[in-house]
Amino acid sequence: MRKKMIAGNWKMNNTPAEGAKLVQDIKAAADAATCDVVVCTPFVCLPSALEAAKGSHVQVAAQNMHYEDKGAFTGEISSVMLKDMGVTHVVLGHSERREYFAESDQTVNLKTKKALMENIVPIVCVGESLEQRETGIAFDWIRMQVKLALLGIAKEDVKRVVIAYEPIWAIGTGKTATDEQANEVCGVIRSALKELYDAETADEMRILYGGSMNAKNAQGLLAQSDIDGGLIGGASLKAEDFSTIIGFAG
Ligand code: 13P
Repeated sequence: MRKKMIAGNWKMNNTPAEGAKLVQDIKAAADAATCDVVVCTPFVCLPSALEAAKGSHVQVAAQNMHYEDKGAFTGEISSVMLKDMGVTHVVLGHSERREYFAESDQTVNLKTKKALMENIVPIVCVGESLEQRETGIAFDWIRMQVKLALLGIAKEDVKRVVIAYEPIWAIGTGKTATDEQANEVCGVIRSALKELYDAETADEMRILYGGSMNAKNAQGLLAQSDIDGGLIGGASLKAEDFSTIIGFAG
């Protein structure tokens, strides 16, 4: 049985004080649940979120990191810095970073390897655009993204990687993939993992769905055979909605 994960991607929202309050407000739901609960906060919110999460089941993630330890990379944050603070997870290759900040399959791969080296759980995002879906290349595209992200990662390490399937057309649009559509692609990802590694590895790895998941549609999505949790944007900013989603994951 794969342990479910509910991760809230706050994106560029919340001040440190607002973030701490949000963590306080979701603690009860997180502590009552058996799934992993993660908040992916802006860098400046990490200290207050970590402080607020102390002694609870809430884990704290960054939304990006650099693959070098240190150096002349103005504006960047390294995995060593994150690890030192107590950050346990990191979102990598989110479509917004790929689209607006020149994140590539190659940098996602470097960062994924680095996070694993640092013992930080990488949550690696993949997903197709509407045009790719309409032209029938979504599955091929996603298989390619998965393969390139995991290039050179050994079987014993890859099990710690979490993959998030986030169709770009469903992000922040209020347009969710249907339960079947989401599960179908998560299944495609799992078979790609099986080809790359083996059935046992693919069975153990967690695949999340993200894209307008909310308190109303989460139950159906989370009940799907190949969906092991959610990466949630908008709805993760509301403690009540996020707590409801955590409750559905159990
Ligand atoms: P929304 O839930 O706001 O659609 O965002 C999804 C997402 O991008 C999570 O990383």
